[in-house]
Amino acid sequence: MTSPMTLTVAPTPTGPALTLRPWRVADVPAVVAAHRDEAMRRWLMRPVDDADEARAWIADQHQGWADGTHLSWAVEEEGTLVGYFTVKAANPPVTLATGVGYWTVAAARGKGVASRCVETATQWLFGGQDLMPADEIELLHTVGNEGSCRVAQKCGYALDSILPPLPPQFPHEGHRHLRKRPA
Ligand SMILES: CC(C)(COP(=O)(O)OP(=O)(O)OC[C@H]1O[C@@H](n2cnc3c(N)ncnc32)[C@H](O)[C@@H]1OP(=O)(O)O)[C@@H](O)C(=O)NCCC(=O)NCCS
Repeated sequence: MTSPMTLTVAPTPTGPALTLRPWRVADVPAVVAAHRDEAMRRWLMRPVDDADEARAWIADQHQGWADGTHLSWAVEEEGTLVGYFTVKAANPPVTLATGVGYWTVAAARGKGVASRCVETATQWLFGGQDLMPADEIELLHTVGNEGSCRVAQKCGYALDSILPPLPPQFPHEGHRHLRKRPA
């Protein structure tokens, strides 16, 4: 059993600090609203359609902490939900290394929220914590998801390989980006 914890993303000259905190049932309306967006529906494997699905999705995020398979946070900027961030345990043969995943709400995009979360979580993962050991971290996205590819590049996740489709979880070709722990 892993107790949910909070991470803080430092402020920048142009953006306030971000708080990565555990999900709450009170987030249901914001999760439903976030998924009413074309990019979310296009690129996410599990779109959320209504409050019941959002409750089930939040329960799954809590389960991820309980069994240590995925540690999932709501990303808050000055009290407003602006995104989702997760680190996931390797799950061979689908994923071969600890991974990171994210989405941001449409109104918050293009301001560095996803890449700042990736950078903070990368430092945390490589920084000696024992919840999710990682010598390398992978970032997977569908080919054509240019925004996600750019986040990977900005955060020093080099393109490692092109992944063939692996239905049902990954129905299309993907990019595997990888960042290794510094020597
Ligand atoms: C991908 C996503 C998480 C990026 O979030 P974000 O907070 O906007 O990310 P950042 O601001 O840190 O960086 C986005 C970068 O991608 C660029 N970008 C966005 N859309 C792009 C596009 N269609 N083509 C090329 N670059 C694009 C932005 O310009 C920015 O780069 P820059 O800082 O060099 O200008 C967000 O667009 C999203 O939630 N998309 C829908 C869900 C999704 O695809 N999740 C990822 C699944 S792998």
